[in-house]
Amino acid sequence: MLPSTINIFEKAARKAGKILTRDFGEIENLQIQSKSVGDFVTSTDLKVERSIIETLKYYYPNANFVTEESGNIKGDGDTIVIDPIDGTSNFIHGIPHVGIVIGKIIQNEITDGIIFNPILNEFYWASHGKGAWCNNKRLRVSKRQELSSCLVGTGIPFGTRIYNNYYDELRNISKITAGVRRLGAASLDLAYVASGKIDGFWEKDLNLWDVCSGVLIVREAGGRVSEPMGEIWTINSRDILASNTLIHNKLIEKLTLL
Ligand code: IPD
Ligand code: CA
Ligand code: CA
Repeated sequence: MLPSTINIFEKAARKAGKILTRDFGEIENLQIQSKSVGDFVTSTDLKVERSIIETLKYYYPNANFVTEESGNIKGDGDTIVIDPIDGTSNFIHGIPHVGIVIGKIIQNEITDGIIFNPILNEFYWASHGKGAWCNNKRLRVSKRQELSSCLVGTGIPFGTRIYNNYYDELRNISKITAGVRRLGAASLDLAYVASGKIDGFWEKDLNLWDVCSGVLIVREAGGRVSEPMGEIWTINSRDILASNTLIHNKLIEKLTLL
């Protein structure tokens, strides 16, 4: 049986997912606005977020909402974090690699999280102590320990988010692994680490709504999460490194020695 929070998050995500899927079928009619270079918001992001908030407010009238598109909606209950479409650029381009993210935080700890891709009907979830799942399948990180056989995900920074060391990091990781992937949705990058599809993932300058569910999903799948240079990851961190436990220190070493 699903934990009750996950049940409620699933209800909200599946309802909002219908809006996302319908609009994905008509992307030529999308209204797109640019927030900054490479950072877009569509009318679908806004509709999906409104739908999620409406459903969740019924169950959690006092919650404190932290959302990408509507900002913070102050409350005195637990915190619920929402990214209505993670992977908006993929969505705009008709690439079905997108996720609806909803996470719950109690006293600075992520307790529950879901990532739902309504186009592929993939429902990832984790609850503290209850494991990580995709649909009915339990997730486990990979067991690869030689970097030469590992695939590593990343987020290539764009616009003002470009930082000097990035291409050094990319070269260091590319040199010693089986390859690097830029899939375009940080939440799903983490879900893929949890699924053992990719072995690690790093990206800098992310928001809590990009990663909150994914962090818990990776941990519950037996993986490790830190900042890229090994510091402890907290809900205030903007930079992340996630991987199976066997290669984590090796990746830290490669991202540190620049
Ligand atoms: C973005 C995606 C992307 C990552 C960006 C995020 P959005 O979120 O997660 O993979 O590289 O940093 O901002 O804008 O599609 O919700
Ligand atoms: Ca996002
Ligand atoms: Ca988004």
